[in-house]
Amino acid sequence: MNKKAIISGTGHYVPPKVVTNHDLEKVMNTTDEWIQQRSGIRERHYAEEGIGSSDLATQAALRAIEDAQIDKEEIDFIIAATLSPDHYFPGIGVLVQSKLGLTEVGAMDVRNQCSGFIYALSAASGYIQAGMYKKILLVAAEVQSSNLDYSDEGRDLAVLFGDGAAAVIIEPNEKDDGRGVLSTHLFSDGRFATELWMDSPSPKDRPTFYPGFLEDKRHYPKMNGKLVFKNASEKMPKAVQIALKHNGLTIEDVDHLLPHQANDRISLMVAKILKIPVEKVIRNIDRFGNTTAASIPIGLDESVKSGRIQQGDIIVLTAFGSGFTWASAVMKW
Ligand code: UT7
Repeated sequence: MNKKAIISGTGHYVPPKVVTNHDLEKVMNTTDEWIQQRSGIRERHYAEEGIGSSDLATQAALRAIEDAQIDKEEIDFIIAATLSPDHYFPGIGVLVQSKLGLTEVGAMDVRNQCSGFIYALSAASGYIQAGMYKKILLVAAEVQSSNLDYSDEGRDLAVLFGDGAAAVIIEPNEKDDGRGVLSTHLFSDGRFATELWMDSPSPKDRPTFYPGFLEDKRHYPKMNGKLVFKNASEKMPKAVQIALKHNGLTIEDVDHLLPHQANDRISLMVAKILKIPVEKVIRNIDRFGNTTAASIPIGLDESVKSGRIQQGDIIVLTAFGSGFTWASAVMKW
């Protein structure tokens, strides 16, 4: 068996503009009380006009590169996870590559929404273990604030989402001391694709931008909140249990549970089902909202930099979102 993949550097970047619940009260029919009670969110960051997810991702990547103490030229593959690419095509992997001043290294985009980071980590870990690459840059970034429906119809979803990015550098663990990515488990159920989605722009429409396109509001993300809530609360604990069993671990062995930050009530429900003390659950949705693919690596970077995560700790990641897709990963830090 080849050496495990290890995360050797982390970084995150959120745009400077902070939007509080009170700020949202001024532009839509909502209240700070409703948002805090239903989601645990107090504020989120919004990018300015002209800033795309590739810009946020590049800043996060530079921080992760510095943290890993490598030269950016050493990066031999890039994986980018986002549901909000700067353009319909190409993806943001190549844009990040170009903004970093790199040429020729392969760049791949992963489109698995809230589960994007774990799906990308799984691919990166597999490449490293197969000996294909030595230093993979994995970025996850979202700019979601520019396309939310701030009317009553879309307010359930609009208040949840924020912008942000995070990155990690993934290498083989040359010391081979048991640290690294121990497992990843990936799941999906496309029967639920339309329960959390953005219907258009769609090439199925001819022309794609037909008269009345904007009035139809099909270009805004839509969500069946209750169904997503129920499935997220069920599927994430199951994915974690499968991962623990696979590794011969019990919930008592887990030092940190880092769930995708979709809604603090979901994170608390997951913790309750798994019977893990809340103190072991990494939660930062109050300050960032739901940053989709970026939420797990932002939490990871904050927890590593603050010293909360220590070498040798067992960390379990889990995510659930659009697709439906869901996933879990276990790492020994
Ligand atoms: O990353 C994965 C993706 N997303 C998620 O995981 C989110 C999963 N779902 C949820 O977190 C919750 O379903 C929400 C937070 C989105 C909504 O909470 P809920 O308890 O399911 O509320 P609801 O949609 O049933 O709405 C309750 C009431 C409704 O009013 P009526 O019909 O009772 O009069 C809504 O119109 O709250 C109203 N409402 C709002 N009020 C103030 C919905 N959105 C808002 C809002 N501000 N932003």
